[in-house]
Amino acid sequence: MEWTPDPRELADLELLLSGAFEPLTGFLGHDDLHAVHERGTLADGAAWPAPVTLHLPADVSPGDEVTLLDPEGLPLATLTVSAHEPDGLTSGPVKGLGAPEHGPFARLRRTPAEVRAELGDRPALAVTMRGPLDDLSEVVATAKELDAVIMLLPLSYGEPGPAVVRAALRAKEKLPEDTIVVSVPLAPREEPEIDLELREHVATAYGATEHLAGPDPVRIPGPPHRRGLVVFFTGLSGSGKSTIARGLRDALLELGTRTVTYLDGDVVRQLLSKGLTFSKSDRDLNIRRIGFVAAETARHGGLAICAPIAPYAATREEVREMVESVGADFLLVHVATPLEECERRDRKGLYAKARAGLIPEFTGVSDPYEEPDDADLVIDTTHISIDTAVSQVLGALKSGGWVR
Ligand code: ADX
Repeated sequence: MEWTPDPRELADLELLLSGAFEPLTGFLGHDDLHAVHERGTLADGAAWPAPVTLHLPADVSPGDEVTLLDPEGLPLATLTVSAHEPDGLTSGPVKGLGAPEHGPFARLRRTPAEVRAELGDRPALAVTMRGPLDDLSEVVATAKELDAVIMLLPLSYGEPGPAVVRAALRAKEKLPEDTIVVSVPLAPREEPEIDLELREHVATAYGATEHLAGPDPVRIPGPPHRRGLVVFFTGLSGSGKSTIARGLRDALLELGTRTVTYLDGDVVRQLLSKGLTFSKSDRDLNIRRIGFVAAETARHGGLAICAPIAPYAATREEVREMVESVGADFLLVHVATPLEECERRDRKGLYAKARAGLIPEFTGVSDPYEEPDDADLVIDTTHISIDTAVSQVLGALKSGGWVR
């Protein structure tokens, strides 16, 4: 069978295949994980600090071969399953399929064997980086003291990756000529000590005789009026979401300080989500699509307004994470007009049809709506005008600094 691991697992896979995770040759199983957790070793006693795992929800059995694909469907490796737990944890050795390198700075991704060959028997000082190296004097002094080659290892996993690689290339210009830069897609581990130990292991695999951990990334977010923003309205059909969202869009266009992308629920279903039903899985897919487009807009500093029902809390949370992972902000506005009022208005006549059994799975009538408990703003339109509701949202955008 074929399977596309998530981005973190793919990053670990690349390091397994390149030898940067030696002595590991594959994803860890239950026994190894237990030993890692208890003693910082593998089950056989070899020192190893961190979990390196793969989750494969489909049913596989020991001995099965799984082709691991990248997100574009290119085969990367074969996994021979040694064990598969009920929660999906799948262990086993991996073998590379020699797929071409991809992604920015691919030329800076070199295998530990290549780098060790280049170093020969010279001592090497590795500096692992997740952010810019502002002060190079410590690096220079330590390298001099050890008579070592400097090896910058920008940890290029994820969204900040390219910026970290650029920082390493900038630092190289101010360092001795023989300084080596290797991009290592190591995903950060949650516990700082484990992360540090893993960085040391990887540095050693690349031939380092000494390791310095560069400073943690300083995230300097731009001012809010230049940052990407997603204003996500959620609420029942007929609650006034679309009307407020449209009013907000118009008000922003009149101010003229920000560009706006507007993703209304009904409009999205005419093209982007055409053909989807109102089953839970199709609604979730619809919301993920909206979230994807909104996050792509916000990635470049744009402002996206979304107004679907989005009845499920977990899916709304996924969108929040998608948006925040590109460094943008997410504002959840719950248009909390009660069902009775939406149904009394029944502007599209849909509630009457739903009550008559003509529309199945109708939100609020025969399908769930999970009230948000994490809304940044709650608006009940029962007793207020649209203008007032729009001013409330605009007020929140102004006080948050997103709009001037
Ligand atoms: S969501 O659940 O996937 O977020 P979405 O916002 O795209 O829903 O679409 C909701 C709109 O579709 C409603 O405003 C209404 O006009 C229409 N609609 C048609 N069938 C249903 C249904 N079964 N439940 C809710 N809305 C429906």
